[in-house]
Amino acid sequence: MTRSTKSNAKVAVITGSAGGLGNAIATRLAKDGFRVVLHDISEDNLKKAKAEFDKAGYESITVVGDVSKRADQFRLIEEAVKAFGQVDVFVNNAGVESVEPFLEIEEKELDRVMNVNIKGVVFGTQAAAEQMKKQNNVSKIINACSIAGHESYEMLSLYSATKHAVRSFTHSTAKELAQYNIRVNAYCPGVADTPMWERIDAAFVKHKGYAPKQAWKEFTQGILVGRPEEPEDVANLVSFLASDDANYITGQTILTDGGMVFR
Ligand SMILES: NC(=O)c1ccc[n+]([C@@H]2O[C@H](COP(=O)([O-])OP(=O)(O)OC[C@H]3O[C@@H](n4cnc5c(N)ncnc54)[C@H](O)[C@@H]3O)[C@@H](O)[C@H]2O)c1
Repeated sequence: MTRSTKSNAKVAVITGSAGGLGNAIATRLAKDGFRVVLHDISEDNLKKAKAEFDKAGYESITVVGDVSKRADQFRLIEEAVKAFGQVDVFVNNAGVESVEPFLEIEEKELDRVMNVNIKGVVFGTQAAAEQMKKQNNVSKIINACSIAGHESYEMLSLYSATKHAVRSFTHSTAKELAQYNIRVNAYCPGVADTPMWERIDAAFVKHKGYAPKQAWKEFTQGILVGRPEEPEDVANLVSFLASDDANYITGQTILTDGGMVFR
């Protein structure tokens, strides 16, 4: 763990923030003035992300951990509080995809994906809420859902099921945690070009005989705003949900997909 200087700014913890959407979210929250806890299972990528934050002058620490391990999630909060004294925003961002025909899904794959996407969110929410309960401010838990939390896709049955679970947990935990002034919402991205989508595309090549980038094209061609999502589009929504302007919003799972899924 590395440390920077202290201030009185609010504190945001973002899981899986060494790369992809999590890194864009962490960067945006740092720009918004948050002190940031960068977290990831990949220590190497976390070091690179920390170097970028230091270069930009953002106040941050790093914590290596696996969201699917309850002890790691509680240690993440412990490290955040040790460094910064509080946790105002906790983003359950880390997630993994699963792309294969339903009939071929094995128990190992079921465990892998449910461990990260479901257990990770449950443990992260429990750890964050235990800390937030002790604080006297409005605090925020913000979950990574997906268009796949609203629509169930072929070849993405397991992933879609876990994101539907995230949507359900967002609703239930918003109800249970309201008494502690904790708001719980979720962002539901569409199709953004991150390492995750490179793997999704490769899986369509493997399982469906697609050409490289064919799945990407099929998923992105009908987007109403006329382009795929940028990680910054997702970060814009999370920035809003983390801000005081969203204090009257809880239990919502908001689509940011350029016009793909209509709810
Ligand atoms: N990219 C998209 O188009 C898209 C769309 C909808 C939803 N999402 C969701 O947004 C979130 C981020 O997606 P992404 O595209 O940036 O994914 P990504 O795979 O590009 O990045 C995920 C990050 O999380 C880390 N991570 C993975 N497992 C972890 C674990 N067990 N513990 C801690 N860190 C872990 C990875 O090392 C990586 O840095 C995920 O929950 C994903 O399901 C992404």
